[in-house]
Amino acid sequence: MQVIVSAAEMQKLAEEARRQGKTIGLVPTMGSLHAGHLSLIALAKKSCDFIITSIFVNPTQFAPNEDFARYPRDLVKDAEACRTAGTTILFTPDQNEMYPDGYSTFVTVDGISSILEGKSRPTHFRGVTTIVAQLFLLTKPHRAFFGQKDAQQCAVVKRIGRDLHFDVEIVVAPIVREQDGLAMSSRNVYLTPQERSDSAVLHAALCRAEQLVAGGEQSAAAIVKEMRNMIQQKKSAAIDYIEIVNGDSLSVLDGLQKGMPALVLLAVRFGTTRLIDNTFLNVR
Ligand code: PAJ
Repeated sequence: MQVIVSAAEMQKLAEEARRQGKTIGLVPTMGSLHAGHLSLIALAKKSCDFIITSIFVNPTQFAPNEDFARYPRDLVKDAEACRTAGTTILFTPDQNEMYPDGYSTFVTVDGISSILEGKSRPTHFRGVTTIVAQLFLLTKPHRAFFGQKDAQQCAVVKRIGRDLHFDVEIVVAPIVREQDGLAMSSRNVYLTPQERSDSAVLHAALCRAEQLVAGGEQSAAAIVKEMRNMIQQKKSAAIDYIEIVNGDSLSVLDGLQKGMPALVLLAVRFGTTRLIDNTFLNVR
């Protein structure tokens, strides 16, 4: 595994790999790698023979009041995990490589960036789409791998791929969970033991939604109400949103219908830690 810090060098190596007929798979991350991230590398390896994993804690996707400064960082451990997982190039640029002095170009996706996560975090997706566009241009991937855990991010990234004619296939991988169902996240380390134990309710509420739908419930309001009740029983939980949306367009749904891809998304704070999760709801 080669570790590359320079953007220009990264671009040169990607061009060379393309010339040699390699299939490039990109796994963008912010590091503090866990089994969820590593599942993306494993998936990439199935269809690509040149794996670029990027680690960059991207300042533009954090609002000033968010956790950029305290976001967990452990490059030595992460590099070892990347190597073991089969990464070809680990790209770890510093801030100056991606946002040099005078940097002023941003990529924004209208509409789906301002709903759900975008309502609570208005500048977040502008940061994500700007860095992802840069990473696509530097690493020239045939395929890029993203986790369903960040469902709205997947939708936004697919949109820039399509709108800006990036010749890249966006592959979405399933959510990897802890034993009690909590979706793995680099932010889970912030939780106190009590919050960590309470946070298992998120997966339980998503499972309850699936169960209600399997039992014939088609009203979004009824499903959300039951989920709210479950989550509110945990003292440390404060619900930001729970919404049922069309899985493709992310537009809010009142009711579920057979054949329509529905997704229930939630964001809940436990103390100072904000967690997100989601699951598909299939009307049979
Ligand atoms: P980060 O939060 O580090 O996540 C990197 C990738 O891992 C994302 O595609 C995310 O959806 C995926 N991932 C995280 N937890 C997962 C889990 N439990 N199961 C499966 N996949 C999981 O998402 C970002 O970084 C950034 O926004 C980034 C795209 C790198 C742009 O800065």
